[in-house]
Amino acid sequence: MRVIRAKDYLDASRKAANIISAQVILQPDSVLGLATGSSPIGIYQRLISWYEKGDIDFSQAKAINLDEYVGLSSIHNQSYAYYMRHNFFDHINIDIRNTFIPNGLDRNARRECSRYDKIIHDLGGVDLQLLGLGPNGHIGFNEPNEEFVKGTHCVELSQVTIDANARFFESKDQVPSKAYTMGIMDIVRARRVVMIVSGEKKAQAVLDSFCGPVTPKVPASILQLHGDFILVADEAALSLVGDKL
Ligand code: GLP
Repeated sequence: MRVIRAKDYLDASRKAANIISAQVILQPDSVLGLATGSSPIGIYQRLISWYEKGDIDFSQAKAINLDEYVGLSSIHNQSYAYYMRHNFFDHINIDIRNTFIPNGLDRNARRECSRYDKIIHDLGGVDLQLLGLGPNGHIGFNEPNEEFVKGTHCVELSQVTIDANARFFESKDQVPSKAYTMGIMDIVRARRVVMIVSGEKKAQAVLDSFCGPVTPKVPASILQLHGDFILVADEAALSLVGDKL
């Protein structure tokens, strides 16, 4: 793995956005695996401004998202489908028909997960996967577990994740308890993986994920084995790792 040290959140966002921009410039029809949460917002803002200046063209790009809450429709303002349109897709020239996200309204998990796995397969896999990091080391919504789950699946969200994501909802009991997420195999098969992490609150998760054993109890730890994994992190997020990375 490669570590790119950034001064702060803005610096990390710019550095990660540069990597994504280079990917799209070098391969305009790239399949981008995209993430939600607060961490990637700065990246999307930079990419939008470079698009507006004419530096990047997304017209041939495809985007597939990591996850979606079960039970939220794509017009619910806390759904990840809404987040992606609002924070990114509505502001660039990607063809919306080339953007994919699990359908949170399909309660038939088996049908929805196999539909999503087929989309990933038909796209030919992911060229660059962007990730954030959950406070418990989760990636997408792959929660700490006894095993790595390979393909798209339905997860019961952990209390840590519900508490962390409650800030986006009016109250904690409005946070959905389940989500669809790409599996670990879908993520590690991406040809390049870029993770952005910022802030002291993530320092323990960074330490556990990248300086400890590879274990499903810390899902992001699997990335230690990826051949092209880039961690872009600011000083606060790296504050506990010292010179271990
Ligand atoms: C959510 C998302 C993850 C994201 C994580 C961290 O649970 N499913 O993909 O990485 O939160 O979010 P944040 O960047 O807001 O800390």
